[in-house]
Amino acid sequence: MKKVQITETVLRDANQSLMATRLPYSDYEAILPEMDKAGYYSAECWGGATFDSCLRYLNEDPWERLRNIRKRMPNTKLQMLLRGQNLLGYKHYHDDVVEKFVELSIKNGIDILRIFDALNDFRNIATALEATKKYATKNTIASGCISYTQSPVHTVEKYVEMCKELKTMGFDTICLKDMAGTMSPYEAENLIKGIKDAVGDMPLILHTHCTTGMAYMTVTKAIESGIDVIDCATSCFSGGTSQPATETMFYALGQYGIDTGLNEEAINKVNDFFKPIKQKYVDSGRINPKSMATDAQALVYKVPGGMLSNMIANLTDMKAMDKFDAALKEIPNVRKDLGYPPLVTPLSQMVGNQAVTNVLLGERYKQISKEVKAYFKGEYGIAPAPVNADIQARVLKEAGMDKPIDCRDEDCKRTGEEFKNAREALGDLARSEEDVMSYICFPDQTRKFLEQRKADEEKITRYVIEEA
Ligand code: CO
Repeated sequence: MKKVQITETVLRDANQSLMATRLPYSDYEAILPEMDKAGYYSAECWGGATFDSCLRYLNEDPWERLRNIRKRMPNTKLQMLLRGQNLLGYKHYHDDVVEKFVELSIKNGIDILRIFDALNDFRNIATALEATKKYATKNTIASGCISYTQSPVHTVEKYVEMCKELKTMGFDTICLKDMAGTMSPYEAENLIKGIKDAVGDMPLILHTHCTTGMAYMTVTKAIESGIDVIDCATSCFSGGTSQPATETMFYALGQYGIDTGLNEEAINKVNDFFKPIKQKYVDSGRINPKSMATDAQALVYKVPGGMLSNMIANLTDMKAMDKFDAALKEIPNVRKDLGYPPLVTPLSQMVGNQAVTNVLLGERYKQISKEVKAYFKGEYGIAPAPVNADIQARVLKEAGMDKPIDCRDEDCKRTGEEFKNAREALGDLARSEEDVMSYICFPDQTRKFLEQRKADEEKITRYVIEEA
């Protein structure tokens, strides 16, 4: 019997795409034992924006969240999304930091590390891969992930070459990550057949979004073409900028005699559980109707779900939603200037913010963000195509540089500096390596979180003493 397995994304990507990753752990703790019975290939539950969001908005320790999920889902592979040398942040870290982060992720409960680089510059995922292999348990899977996009330089041949490279590097599986949901059924067929021919029996995973309305067709074609795993979200958290629905795919594939390994009763209970939670966030306005709709415009603008909901949130905060269409139209121009990077974190934010700035200031590149400057200086790696030479020359001149840097020169250092600085900065606020790592990744948010934790504990201690 043909088998296609399903990764459930409600805890991470659906949450990130539909509601800017604001789902607190307490909302879904009770359903985790049921999810553990569902028979998913994996549960994507950590990484991506969840880490930042825990500290910044939810007053949660991301590591504790992971350990809690692990405890309640002992039988399911837990999956995270890792941005290679960027980890979960927005800049490159030294190799020793990347290695420690991977070690702690596995130690706290992660089984599958889906590792990507926004530019598909695979030098930027090599360290995370090595660390995964070094700290692997019998359940660990290193999944090499390609950021899928369309541009004049992104051909089937180029993607096939990328897959061969991932195989040579030693990854266990390959994931095609179509974050903007712009992969058409036709493209999926050509791509997956090409890749399957080239890398043979290596498991192949498709991650896409419903943003443009093509996902169900694309996933169906992908299955016909030999895909092994697809990413889906429980149906009330599916569609729009999220993934196709788990139960729907289960039903449709069942008629083809394709075994998903899913437990029908469990997946329905999961959906029933999440329905009122979704409604709560629709009512509060946290889930914007725009992110639940189909928008074929993304076929032109190549905007991933998370980026779209962030842009809406930012423009709403600035009371500038009237500039939304203009900002969307500016995105392809900025993208060309940057050498056609795939629009995935952190590049999606960089391109999105620069497009918004260009439109709001009424003059292109009047202001260039720190991150976009760093990009032109070469700090993120090699762009898929040559960048706009004028803008790059301006940025380099301003920084007193004659040419861009090779990002690996700096990344490969193992100075221990970040650990030392973080420990010193935190003093007795830090109680674990995990606290130190959180601080290295998000210093301001982590300090605030740890100070709050300390204050809460002192309050409890005082209360206990007074009561006694
Ligand atoms: Co995604």
